[in-house]
Amino acid sequence: MTKKLPNLAVLGATGVVGREILNILEENKVEYNSIKFLASKRSAGSTIDFKGEKHTVIEAADNVFDDVDICLASAGGETSKRFAPIAAKKGCVFIDNSSAFRMDKDVPLVIAGVNDEDLKNHKGIIANPNCSTSQLMLPLKALDEKYKVKRLIVSTYQAVSGAGLKAINELTDNIKTNLVGMPYEPSAFKYEIAFNVIPQIDVFCDNGYTKEEMKVTNETRKILHFDESVKISCTAVRVPVYIGHSEAVSVEFEKPVDEKEARELLKNTWGVEVRDDVTTYTYPTPKDAAGKNPVYVGRIRKSIAFDNGLEFFCVADNLRIGAALNTVRLAQKVIEMELY
Ligand SMILES: NC(=O)c1ccc[n+]([C@@H]2O[C@H](COP(=O)([O-])OP(=O)(O)OC[C@H]3O[C@@H](n4cnc5c(N)ncnc54)[C@H](OP(=O)(O)O)[C@@H]3O)[C@@H](O)[C@H]2O)c1
Repeated sequence: MTKKLPNLAVLGATGVVGREILNILEENKVEYNSIKFLASKRSAGSTIDFKGEKHTVIEAADNVFDDVDICLASAGGETSKRFAPIAAKKGCVFIDNSSAFRMDKDVPLVIAGVNDEDLKNHKGIIANPNCSTSQLMLPLKALDEKYKVKRLIVSTYQAVSGAGLKAINELTDNIKTNLVGMPYEPSAFKYEIAFNVIPQIDVFCDNGYTKEEMKVTNETRKILHFDESVKISCTAVRVPVYIGHSEAVSVEFEKPVDEKEARELLKNTWGVEVRDDVTTYTYPTPKDAAGKNPVYVGRIRKSIAFDNGLEFFCVADNLRIGAALNTVRLAQKVIEMELY
């Protein structure tokens, strides 16, 4: 017997990621029995347009999860820490966008289409990986299956929308202020982001890497079930782009890799779109990726730095695959696999 359609809740429904979750729930025609729109006290009572109708935003509180089967959450780590255990106890599957539970051994960290089987081990909470890790998983899984990853070096060029609404507004204000020759006092970033790049995302760890960079290392290992012998290093940089993270990726494999064969493999990988022809200057850029679902891959070439090495450039909409799209896909998997 198939299960009845789930009761859904979107926690953080008024935020940058939350609004994108609503767009994708509609686009993907996700079926449900009921849906609730949750935020903080600040937005409670305001209305949200969804599927052509106005809905009232409800303040998140323990009792709102009583009749919720699946919660799609993007309301920050503290909010998730507060509500996820309560929701899970009430039988709700809490799909979390924050970093609060990602490395918890009892919480599956999943990219839909990459490690769906891990969902079966959930105990009420499922974590959505960090945006810079997320976009790399689809191409990397396909390449790993064929050539086996030995070493991975990633340099990111991350859009300001990854830091929320305040950061988006700061880029605009900073550009406008600079264009009339005025100095700008940044607050969302440590330095001015307009006409600049900032080699720091999140706080520094004891080893000199930032937390964002260590997320790429640790989350990649957890999702692809890599052991400690696979070496992973990342440099994460914020750039003055609104939407779309880019990554320059160098991979060393155990087995010899053929550039043409790797390109064909990626062309046939679900969720990946190859844009790669230097003779026609074809390669992905964040402007092309914004608002789209695929992870775009280009500049595929054999590495001259590593034996058995491959280099590529990978671009995706950070608000989609890096957050809202994967959250909705995870909810769809939970429904399909009857895991609620
Ligand atoms: N932006 C990205 O690319 C991205 C990518 C991956 C993961 N994430 C994660 O997703 C989360 C949200 O990011 P965002 O960029 O969407 O932030 P945002 O635009 O600042 O939105 C935050 C949302 O959380 C709600 N909220 C805040 N405190 C709350 C509380 N105590 N109780 C209930 N709701 C509360 C806010 O509601 P009000 O309207 O009431 O303030 C708002 O709906 C963060 O954990 C972030 O790390 C973001």
